[in-house]
Amino acid sequence: MAKETVLITGGTGYIGSFTALELLVAGYNVVIIDNLYNSSEETINRIELICGIRPTFYKVDVTDTPGLESVFEKHSEISSVIHFAALKSVGQSGEIPAEYYRVNVGGTAQLLSVMKKYGVDKIVFSSSATVYGDATRHPGMIPIPEECPLGPTNPYGRTKWFNEMVIEDHVNANKGSAAALLRYFNPCGAHPSGVLGEDPQGVPYNLLPLLGQVAVGKREKLLVFGDDYQSHDGTAIRDYIHVVDLAQGHIAALKKLYDPSFAGCKAWNLGTGRGSTVFEIIEAFGKAVGRKLPYEVAPRRPGDVLDLTAKPDLARRELQWHTRKTLEEACEDLWRWVKNNPSGYREEYKKELLEE
Ligand code: NAD
Ligand code: WQD
Repeated sequence: MAKETVLITGGTGYIGSFTALELLVAGYNVVIIDNLYNSSEETINRIELICGIRPTFYKVDVTDTPGLESVFEKHSEISSVIHFAALKSVGQSGEIPAEYYRVNVGGTAQLLSVMKKYGVDKIVFSSSATVYGDATRHPGMIPIPEECPLGPTNPYGRTKWFNEMVIEDHVNANKGSAAALLRYFNPCGAHPSGVLGEDPQGVPYNLLPLLGQVAVGKREKLLVFGDDYQSHDGTAIRDYIHVVDLAQGHIAALKKLYDPSFAGCKAWNLGTGRGSTVFEIIEAFGKAVGRKLPYEVAPRRPGDVLDLTAKPDLARRELQWHTRKTLEEACEDLWRWVKNNPSGYREEYKKELLEE
């Protein structure tokens, strides 16, 4: 197989690091850029620890045109980009929306201009199920197919929606270029080795990292945001996808973009097609931990919706990709990561843990 070189923006972050690892294992060359706003360079060591190959890393901000250009200058072999770099806190996006538009939308536009200058015409973009907003408003749209009308309910979600349009316009204007817009559902879990995982800086926002903190005693209990939804147990439904499956979805999308018969810009859902409620997640993670995890029911979180479950059929048909890992595996892998890395990436990995 030809050794294609892929530039990964945001490659020291959660999903980016797993995708870098899967690409290296699959035989691709990987160049990572990240400004380390929400991640650590230690991720590079961890990737090397797992697969024995060290990806090339540059500390570069995606909104810094000269910085970006210097990477393309040094690596004329780059033939595609996977663009993860973004700000991703829904709550923060309501407080500093202009910054979200500058980094998330401005960053993408800048990246596309530099790619064009250096003749790179393939991009995989991290979109989100959040672009659908409340799909239950549209009859027959749960599980959610790609043709569900879009309508994000917060500034973060709107940056993803605008990005999709910016990329589509760019592809339409540049013949021969190709883009995959990947709408992730709820990524979760960690690497089965316990070496690579999610290390949110500051207070976590997502359910499973918060449950991880409850399990290690950093947090007294989980607040369940609403038990009056129209689900079988009253809590909201999400489609939790193991991050290793998600990372492999990027390889499937890249293969599509390298296929000469494909051109244009297309969106694919990356999810399992199976919804779980908050209570089911508490139960599943508790099982991995080996005890019941404390929780308390609190009011609904503003902006939350009843159900975000993917219809993943299009990716299965067109990308020959589907998820393989179970929720139980995601919970076990997450627990191993949490136990083995009490300080996240702030410490080197204890090598003796690898022998276990
Ligand atoms: P993450 O924060 O772990 O990774 C994003 C990375 O981008 C971080 O390493 C951060 O330091 C970097 N970054 C931020 N601003 C940058 C800039 N200006 N220049 C260079 N690097 C910058 O987040 P993640 O969960 O890995 O998410 C990756 C992508 O997937 C994001 O675009 C996110 O919006 C999207 N996404 C995430 C989820 C999720 O729940 N995790 C769901 C759907 C979509
Ligand atoms: C999951 C469920 C909460 C925390 C967010 C973004 C989305 C995407 C993924 C980037 C919900 C409930 C949570 C808690 C709880 N990210 N919950 N107590 O909201 O589905 O999606 O992350 O694109 O854009 O919006 O994920 O993990 O925050 O919540 O009860 O302390 O857990 O109400 O039902 P969400 P989440």
